Amino acid sequence: MTATFDFAPLLPAGLPAPVARWTGLARYSFIGGNNDPDQVPVEGLIEAVNAVLKREGRTLATYGLASGPQGYRPLRDFLTAKLKRDAGMDCVADDILIVSGSLQALDLVNQSLLARGDTVIIERETYQGSLNRLTRLGVNTVGIPLDHEGMRMDALAAALADLRQRGITPKYIYTIPTVQNPTGTIMPESRRAELLKLSQQYGVPIFEDDCYADLIWDGQRPPAIHAMDRTGSVIHIGSFSKSIAPALRVGFIVAPWQMLSRMLALKTDAGSGALEQMVLAEYCAPHFSSHVPKLTRGLRAKLDTLMEALNEQFGTAAEFDDPRGGIFLWVKLPDQVDTLKLYQAALAAGVAINPGPEWCTDKAYAGSRLRLCFASPSHQQIREGVAVLAEVCCREFGVPARSANVEKRGRI
Ligand SMILES: Cc1ncc(COP(=O)(O)O)c(C=O)c1O
Repeated sequence: MTATFDFAPLLPAGLPAPVARWTGLARYSFIGGNNDPDQVPVEGLIEAVNAVLKREGRTLATYGLASGPQGYRPLRDFLTAKLKRDAGMDCVADDILIVSGSLQALDLVNQSLLARGDTVIIERETYQGSLNRLTRLGVNTVGIPLDHEGMRMDALAAALADLRQRGITPKYIYTIPTVQNPTGTIMPESRRAELLKLSQQYGVPIFEDDCYADLIWDGQRPPAIHAMDRTGSVIHIGSFSKSIAPALRVGFIVAPWQMLSRMLALKTDAGSGALEQMVLAEYCAPHFSSHVPKLTRGLRAKLDTLMEALNEQFGTAAEFDDPRGGIFLWVKLPDQVDTLKLYQAALAAGVAINPGPEWCTDKAYAGSRLRLCFASPSHQQIREGVAVLAEVCCREFGVPARSANVEKRGRI
């Protein structure tokens, strides 16, 4: 059908720009938070779906199953035990709201706390999804630099003092403390204690986004900030996207009832997908603890392949730290490389990368940085994709001048 009706005059002011149609994944895709297709526990999920549907399928006749609006009760029970065991958190099923991916958690927290013109504190390098939401809401962001142990507390203290002097109380301090996106840092327990102290000193709550916390190579994580808090001022969110599969769209919020009750009032979708919640609860209770070490071993091997490929193709031109977990490598290229331009040129050659400025409050600082997701491409795609990226980068910016002992300039 050829559409002749014009909706344009009907659209209200302030809508986000329209999205472009999806044209498929790039041949070498290092973008997004996608996971390793070979690590999705397909057989276990099939068994789980059969078992849970046979046993409880009839409950699908009721919105919210028989569990009420906060989500499938066995999944919240699994989370209660898991968060206690892994993150030291003391919470009960009633403190948890299951949501449609932690993106919905970001929306609900933001909608319940933020108004246009508000200020929030975030990490200078941060998740693009969080940054874009704040920009769209007209919220001012103060970016705090990171070091090898996450958000720098001296810089946070200075920012809080500066804002107070200007009569501004930020609405929250947003942090990804456990395998930070994109830098991969893990904030140690002592720094988490400092962060809590500052948050309490200035009366600013902490918004803890912990969606990568299961993906640590040695499995050792510090307690969640939520676990160390004694005042109920931490909102904690997590997700099954990184540990099981992102397309399931299941995340969760742990927060005091004062905030959960507000978020529930804003969550007008009559509940997140029930089948996904049922399957996850059925699968995770017996299998989560053995699934995760297998997943992280596979991810670590892919990271090794990526770092080797970068060393081989870019030599010293590509600088990066060896992250302790996660699915991303945050890479610094020489200053003359503009990764927004590199992104366009690489895409034309079949390689998709995330340009640094989209993941940072300071666009100039991140101008020659990029984020590479190593979870979803195969080992071979990683090697080939990095080689193509190096060719394109050499052609466009003259670096790497040499790679894999081959003079690159002028080859393509
Ligand atoms: C830090 C962070 N928070 C939240 C999300 C959203 O994840 P999901 O909605 O799949 O749970 C992501 C996804 O990549 C992320 O990196």
